[in-house]
Amino acid sequence: MQYQQIVDAVHAKIAPLIGCGRVADYIPGLAGVDPRRFGLALAAPDGAVYGAGDWQTAFSIQSVSKVFSLALVLGHDSDAIWRRIGREPSGSPFNSLHQLEQDRGVPRNPFVNAGALVVVDELLTLTGDPSLAVLDLLRAEAGNPAVTIDEQVAKSEAGHRHRNAALAHLVASYGNLTNPVDAVLDQYTAQCAIAMNCGDLARAAGFLARHGLRTGGSRLLSRSDAKRLNATMLTCGTYDSAGEFAYRVGLPAKSGVGGGILAVVPNRCTLAVWGPGLDECGNSCAGRAALDAFTTLTGWSVF
Ligand code: DON
Repeated sequence: MQYQQIVDAVHAKIAPLIGCGRVADYIPGLAGVDPRRFGLALAAPDGAVYGAGDWQTAFSIQSVSKVFSLALVLGHDSDAIWRRIGREPSGSPFNSLHQLEQDRGVPRNPFVNAGALVVVDELLTLTGDPSLAVLDLLRAEAGNPAVTIDEQVAKSEAGHRHRNAALAHLVASYGNLTNPVDAVLDQYTAQCAIAMNCGDLARAAGFLARHGLRTGGSRLLSRSDAKRLNATMLTCGTYDSAGEFAYRVGLPAKSGVGGGILAVVPNRCTLAVWGPGLDECGNSCAGRAALDAFTTLTGWSVF
């Protein structure tokens, strides 16, 4: 089966589910998105992209951005960040304060919000402008200099970030934040508000399917760190439904409350899906169904 036939078949298979789930409304800037949008794109190893549905419509990538900030940090130093965060599945909501307190300010993994705040803190120290560093990486790998931050979404989240502020202050109270809390929160919020389409997102993540090699052939991550980042996505990337996700889909993946999910088939391709309606764990309902249908159809999972 050709790549285009695969994406078309997956799109047709899950069409009845488009619109399922509930759009995130705790960030007002996301609440107005039409739940009936759906896009799917597959990027082949050579960078060619095959899409179906709304695959060229930009959406808010939210927590999917956490993969790229972590990649930049690991590309600089493979070990340092792991002294500040764990790499165990959370089994708890992505913004749990209770778990952070239990873990004494050492976030359970880099993808729960507290862990991502620590990654942003590390990247702030390294670069001075972490959201720009993430944006530069995404633009270069997607081959699209127009990828940008949706300022309206950023502003909207900034006005409603009480829970993330509480998480950041709790991390800081345990001495696990090196920069001022507000600077870290501003950068984290900006990074989450990056908007891009499924095609660009799938292409930008190609280094995860190429064992750490960027589009131009230079190395972003060591082979070992690329494996580790994929492993962390598999075990932690979809929060408290990571077990169910591995069971149904069997691929490293990272979701965001904008309704995007990025998935990696090492050696073969990357996929980005978008459906704004979320399940109870904050993962795209139609997106999850599409990735399930994709691995069922192709047999391409890591298992
Ligand atoms: O910090 C937040 O709550 C959002 N900016 C990102 C959360 C998110 O995308 C969780 N993913 N499913």
